[in-house]
Amino acid sequence: MSASITLNHQGQEFFLARPAVALGPAFLEFLNEFKARGEGHFVFEDVLETAGLPAYVAWLEQGERGELAHAGYVPWSAYWLVDASNNSVVGISSLRHELNMPMRTRGGHVGYRVRPSRRRSGLGSLLLREMARLGHQRGIDPVMVVCHEDNIESAGLILSCGGTEYEPILDGERNLRRFRLHADSRPRR
Ligand SMILES: CC(C)(COP(=O)(O)OP(=O)(O)OC[C@H]1O[C@@H](n2cnc3c(N)ncnc32)[C@H](O)[C@@H]1OP(=O)(O)O)[C@@H](O)C(=O)NCCC(=O)NCCS
Repeated sequence: MSASITLNHQGQEFFLARPAVALGPAFLEFLNEFKARGEGHFVFEDVLETAGLPAYVAWLEQGERGELAHAGYVPWSAYWLVDASNNSVVGISSLRHELNMPMRTRGGHVGYRVRPSRRRSGLGSLLLREMARLGHQRGIDPVMVVCHEDNIESAGLILSCGGTEYEPILDGERNLRRFRLHADSRPRR
């Protein structure tokens, strides 16, 4: 996996780090905050809980190399956003390198989460913009991002990052809003 990326946000330093066992305690502490707040089960939490952190990191690396295609996974890269002042994980994100049909219609290229105690301070924007940049760097243009219609936080975030909305699609009983982030699109702020 490639080295982490240093980001400056409002005069503070952050790292967009690759998952690593050395960051394991910080990552588990990040997950615990979600659990304590009763916020959603993570898609890959089962792998972590059954196999443990080193195996989870190895599994992410396999996913990045495209070795989990047999299980239906398109290749993806996982990133952990780390606050350099205290080495805490403040957000996580994934970038899919390519899309299969379900991902093209309903998944999109990027998934992201910011820990509840660090929201509304621009970290979601920092993360999504950087992930879009990494996607564009890989030749993915536009980068597709989706969210359910009731996820006003995520929709606001995507729009603030310059997302252009196109037609929604029904996902169960809810509409899924879909957006494109073009390499030449301008963030709203
Ligand atoms: C969506 C999420 C990543 C936003 O992270 P964040 O760090 O709070 O986002 P930012 O501080 O960068 O906010 C950027 C913009 O998003 C919008 N936004 C964020 N939270 C919002 C809220 N609670 N209500 C309305 N708009 C909101 C606003 O437009 C905001 O800009 P502003 O602060 O200038 O008004 C975060 O709420 C989260 O992790 N949610 C749970 C996981 C999730 O829904 N992931 C996306 C799956 S599709």
